[in-house]
This record gives sequence, C-alpha cells and structure tokens, in this order.
Amino acid sequence: MGIPIHKYDVVIVGAGLAGCAAAREAAHAGLSVCVLTKLHPLRSHSGAAQGGINAALSTEDSIELHEFDTVKGSDYLGDQDAIKLMCEKAPETIRWAEKMGAVFSRNEEGKIAQRPFGGQSKPRACYAKDRTGLTLLQTIFEQAHRDGVDFKDEYYVADLIYEDGKASGVVAYNLVDTKPMIFNARAVMFATGGYGRAFKVNSNAHANTGDALSIVARKGLPLEDMEFVQFHPTGLAGTGILISEAARGEGGRLFNSEGERFMEKYAPNKLELASRDVVSRAITKEILEGKGCGENKDHVMIDLTHLGEKIIMERLPELRDLALTFLGQDMIKEPISIAATAHYSMGGIPVNKHGHVRKNTQEFVEGFYAAGECSCVSVHGANRLGANSVLEALFFGRHVGQTIVDDVKKGISFKEATSDDAQFTINKIKAFKESNGNEKVPLLREELQQGMTDNAGVFRTESSLLQQRENIKQLRQRLKNIRIDDHSTVYNTDLQEAIEFGHMLDYSAFIVDGAIHRKESRGAHFREEYQTRDDENFLKHTMAYMDENGDIRTEYMDVVLGNFEPQERTY
Ligand code: FUM
Repeated sequence: MGIPIHKYDVVIVGAGLAGCAAAREAAHAGLSVCVLTKLHPLRSHSGAAQGGINAALSTEDSIELHEFDTVKGSDYLGDQDAIKLMCEKAPETIRWAEKMGAVFSRNEEGKIAQRPFGGQSKPRACYAKDRTGLTLLQTIFEQAHRDGVDFKDEYYVADLIYEDGKASGVVAYNLVDTKPMIFNARAVMFATGGYGRAFKVNSNAHANTGDALSIVARKGLPLEDMEFVQFHPTGLAGTGILISEAARGEGGRLFNSEGERFMEKYAPNKLELASRDVVSRAITKEILEGKGCGENKDHVMIDLTHLGEKIIMERLPELRDLALTFLGQDMIKEPISIAATAHYSMGGIPVNKHGHVRKNTQEFVEGFYAAGECSCVSVHGANRLGANSVLEALFFGRHVGQTIVDDVKKGISFKEATSDDAQFTINKIKAFKESNGNEKVPLLREELQQGMTDNAGVFRTESSLLQQRENIKQLRQRLKNIRIDDHSTVYNTDLQEAIEFGHMLDYSAFIVDGAIHRKESRGAHFREEYQTRDDENFLKHTMAYMDENGDIRTEYMDVVLGNFEPQERTY
C-alpha cells in the first residue's frame, strides 16, 4: 500500500514567527496552507526572544539611521537592498502586529516604549516587557489559526521533494507513530530556525538542530555564509541560557574579577552597548586572560542592582526569574554570572529579498521559499544587531507569505508526488532503527558540540579549525556505528536524535569549512591569524555546496552594496 499523500497549495515547515506570519498571509488570501512543526507552535524558539523588535518609530530616529546601524553592525556584509526593505517596512510591521492583537509595553506618553540595544544609534527596540517574542508568537499563531491554517504539530520533516530545480513538497513522519507521509504542494517554505545547538554552550531551544539546512544541502543546493555564528554576550554562566540584551539596554554594567568595568577598554563610546560581536570577544578575552570570576574563573558579572527593584520587576521580570532559578542569584540584590553563548545563525539557506531560494549564484528553485533564521537573506551579514531578528522573522515571514500568494496567482506548477518520493526517508528510518553498533548518539553529540565551542567558537585559528574538520570527519564514521535501543514506533526520540545528529554534523562541516576559507576577521568571525577585515578579498558571501561524500566546494557571491560605503567599524 502506498503512503498517504496530502495536497495543499502551500506547505510551511516551522511554526515560529516567520512560519506563522507567512501561513497567515497565504491562508488569508484564500490558499490552502499546512504548517508542519516538530513541536507545538507555541514552543517554537521565537517565543524565547526576550528583548524586543526594532523599528524607527520616534521623531529622533529615522529609517536611514536604522539602515545605517544595521549595515555597520553587519560589518558591511549585509545586502543593502534587503536591509533597506526591512527597515522601511519595520514601522508598518509593528502596526500590523498591534492590529493583529499584540500588546506592547508603553511609555509615560502612552506610546509604544522603546529601549536601547547594542550597536543602535537610538532606542529602537519595541518590547512587551521581556517576553516580546512570546507575545508576538501567540498573537500571530492565533490569527493564522483563525484564517484556517492546518497546523500539524509533532510532525518531523525528514526530506524535501526536489528535482530539476523544482520543489514540490516534503516527506514527514508523525512523531506519535513514526508513520511517514508526503505533503505535496505548489509552494514549499522552510522557516525552521537556527543552528546554535552545534555548540556546547548555547541559548537555543533543544529543538534547534538546524534540520532544514542539511536537508537542503543534501540536494546539492548551496548554503550561504555559514561561518558567521553569533555569540550573545550574556548567557547565564554554565548553561548559556539567554539573559536578554535588554539587561544592558536598561543599564547593566559588566565587571571582571578585578572589579574593572572592562568595556571601557574595548568600546570607549558605546561601552556595554557596543555590538554583540565586540562585547562577546571582550568578555571571552577577559576570561582567557585570567580575569574571569568564580572558582573556575569562567564568567564575568553583569550588575543591575543600581536599577532598583521597581524597574527590574517592571521591565526584566523574566530575566530575574531565570537567574534565580538557574543560579540562585537575585539581580535586584547582587550581580549575576554570565559568559558568551552561541545564540544566532547569520548564515543559512540563501534567498533573495522576496524569499526565493537560490539554486546557485544565478538561478532560483521554483516553488521553494525560506524566511527567518534558517534563511540567509543577508540582512545581518557578519553580525546581527539585537532585536533585528524578531523584525526579520516577522517582516520577511509576512512578506514571503505575500510573495507566495503572488507566485501562486501567476501560476507555480503543481508536480504530483508519488510514494517513491518517500523511499529515501523510509530506508533511512529503517537503517537507523536497525543500528546495532556500540556508539551512543548523545555522547557523539557532546563531542561535536564541545569541539565546535573549543575550535570554531568566539576565537578561531587555522589549526583549531582544521582539527574540528577532522573531528567531524571522524564523527561521521562513528555515526555509522551507533546503537538505537528504542525499537518502538511511539515517540521514538532515540531515532529522532540520531537523524538530527546527522543534520548537525553536516551543517557543522559548512560552518568550519567557511571559517577555514575566510582568511579575515569580520563581525562574529574572528581569525587569530587575520585579525582585520579584508574587503579586497572577502567582501563577498560564501556559497558552499556539499557532494555525496560530504566534501564541500566553495564559491563566492557579490554583496549587494548601496548607500553605505564600507568603512572602519568602531563603537
Ligand atoms: O538579547 C535579546 O533579547 C535577544 C534579542 C535578539 O537576539 O534579537
């Protein structure tokens, strides 16, 4: 008997802000839309975005300034056409979210309150206390539901149906019973979030295993700028759980074990509100120089006590709870322990500013779209500014939803899927379930993550990167010798983690390879041997392709320049 084939106009993978916003727009325009997610939509990682969403709303601010800050923050690698579009549409995006029902915090005048964030010339982050992402996600999910989007929770998408430059659906299985099925559509959109879990200390949800990136790469399609991984300066020491930049936006100060406010050395003008790459490197350097705090000297302190209880409880209640729960530290009374944590993926599936996925530097895939953190529209270039990701997810999610509506009206062809399209997934599930070797996936994953943190983290060298490339090669071999103990079909997390680990290995190879080839320092990518930016040779996007042996070939693509000429970046 063949496997079930479900047909829709649009299939979206991922139910975070980008996926929900696209789904809402497409369904609102009358298309049949299915959203597949391996979680419940409201567990998506967008819900963890704490600090805010940028838009130039105030009279002191301007769209041009928002554009400039974003281009500068990107270390000039951001594509200026996409940045312009996003910044121009930011105020309208906020108004749309409000109209949909999102409630933002207000200032004394009753206007939407805005707080300062790193690398921004003006207070620009609109917020809902320190639960901005969750507020927006709840709102847009409800509206998508109301418009009739068919949400399928706890479905794991294992493959893309792709042939001859055309995407026509996905193969997924239901986590409840491991039954595979096909979702066949005119338009397929990936909105699956980032790949921060490649690193040991990270702020990402357990689910952020970057599956979509490897699924795309295995079709011979490119990934862009994968070497650029953002380390957020303030993760809770030990766990990496996010302490929002809002903490520094509201006035938090960083101190080392000698009581020095060390940002005075690294960013004399902006101090703690320099961009994230600058602050993360400063924190890591202090720790490497032995000026870390605590028994292991492995963190620094952020002090918010001068803000007082009222402001902390009004604007940062969630952060206080997190520090209390995980470290037993009360930020009202004492400084809390933090260190840099892998947070955001600047690279991803290459798309143009309308969300069309690139087949190569010249052509696009028919019927295939991506938005949000899994994509690289390159509004963030080499380093993202805080509160621009929620904007990116919401604006581009919505915009790509509208693009899909337009493209469907113009006539994207519908290619019928057959049961054969699921054969690769069926074989893979069978092979994994029968694996009877002596390696355990959680231990292999631990090795990968530790190696990525040590060798491809905040500071990178040629030899550390080559070491990590070798580690990944070895781990690929060892994955062939794993043992799966759970042979059931019901919520088989053993199986799921094995598939996810394969994905983590593949895209980690892209991160490392891109970092080896990029012999310069730019934004979040810092090479000890090449400590400056090299615009002559590297003002370009990495486009990397994987062959069937896992080897990676690199091409480069021009950066879209615009009004802002590259210049030295200081804060
Ligand atoms: O620090 C934060 O609240 C995170 C925001 C962001 O990554 O944009």
